[in-house]
Amino acid sequence: MENNQKKKTETVVEVIEGGPLKITGNIIFQDIKRDIKENVSELYLCRCGRSCNKPFCDDSHK
Ligand code: FES
Repeated sequence: MENNQKKKTETVVEVIEGGPLKITGNIIFQDIKRDIKENVSELYLCRCGRSCNKPFCDDSHK
């Protein structure tokens, strides 16, 4: 049971070579400028600066 609780709260940030940061876990994403606050389990954040949907990756890095 302790392992299950630990897994639920674990957040992993993965650097995808030549691509975005993949973040998985129990994530609260907040964008104050656009008044967005969401609880999500997976995010891909742009690292290349080419995305038209920042801060998210839109595959423009390919
Ligand atoms: S990393 Fe994918 S669009 Fe920037």
